[in-house]
Amino acid sequence: MTNKPSLTSTWQSPSNLAIVKYWGKKALQEPVNPSVSFSLSEAKTTTTVGLVPRQDGGFSFRLDELPVPKFEKKIETFFNAIRARLPIIENHFIEIESTNTFPHSTGIASSASAMSALALCLADLQQQVNGKNDLDITEVSSLARIGSGSASRSVYGNWNLWGRMAELPESSDFHAIPAPVDIAPVFRDLHDDILIVSSQSKPVSSSHGHKLMDLHPYREGRISQARRNTLELLKHLSSGNFEGFAKIAESEALSLHGLMMSSTPAFTLLRPNTLAIIEKIREFRDNKDIPVTFTMDAGPNIHLLYPKEFLNEVSEWEENSLKPFCEDGRILRDHIGKGPEKIISTK
Ligand code: PMV
Repeated sequence: MTNKPSLTSTWQSPSNLAIVKYWGKKALQEPVNPSVSFSLSEAKTTTTVGLVPRQDGGFSFRLDELPVPKFEKKIETFFNAIRARLPIIENHFIEIESTNTFPHSTGIASSASAMSALALCLADLQQQVNGKNDLDITEVSSLARIGSGSASRSVYGNWNLWGRMAELPESSDFHAIPAPVDIAPVFRDLHDDILIVSSQSKPVSSSHGHKLMDLHPYREGRISQARRNTLELLKHLSSGNFEGFAKIAESEALSLHGLMMSSTPAFTLLRPNTLAIIEKIREFRDNKDIPVTFTMDAGPNIHLLYPKEFLNEVSEWEENSLKPFCEDGRILRDHIGKGPEKIISTK
């Protein structure tokens, strides 16, 4: 910290991977459809926020010790939207320092881990200033959502749901909740190997993609599909049906990219090697009878998903058959994680 803050808070928060995808928003970053995700274990952001009392507010942001103007703009918009809920923003200079555990330029979205870590630090500091010590995680999820929709799901570990469904009374558009079902053992330690097809930054941002859903010709069909898939997925997660899970994971990933390719203007984030890997995964599953499936985020990389017990068989095949399709042979190995953690300074 360059200034001497009166109070600091440090949190480490994970990225998450959606199986039912959030795509399209309304009002202040509320989703047009529900989404279901799990938090990762290795892909995390660690953020320290320091408060320096100062009447005219202001903030600074550094990622790996360097300023990043693109993110400063996002943080400014975030602060303007949450000012009324967090008075500390008004009368303090806020110093933010972040680091990511996952390497730069791998095409891995960091907004979920970054915005959830920031929301956790800010909510924690507001509590400290108020002389309280009972962080309301639902409120933190709601704050994180305003920073980046998918960040609302990163404040919890394991499986989570965001978006209102009449059938699920605890669900909300304003914040995420832990998935409201018991998760079967096969889905408790799911592995996610991220096959890096391209590390180039996306030609179209997620924000722009969400916006294109406003007038999308398939909008209503998409909303119904996501609702159906959410209920089905929860059933499969609790009964342990991997085949049902795989059908939804793949259909959601391909539908997301189908929506992009049928937007006006249209855009395509898939690369030839993305499709080659998908073919390989299907072939391996059919021939070996090993439960593997995949999903994709808004990018060309493939997330290969499988239960922990198949780690050895999958790793060997991955090395021989999938690595050649990855940029510089790059694969990031991750799995379901336990959620954010407060870091207590020992200095
Ligand atoms: O949170 P955003 O605005 O970056 O949107 C994330 C959208 C997807 O990653 C494609 C899907 C999801 O639910 O995370």
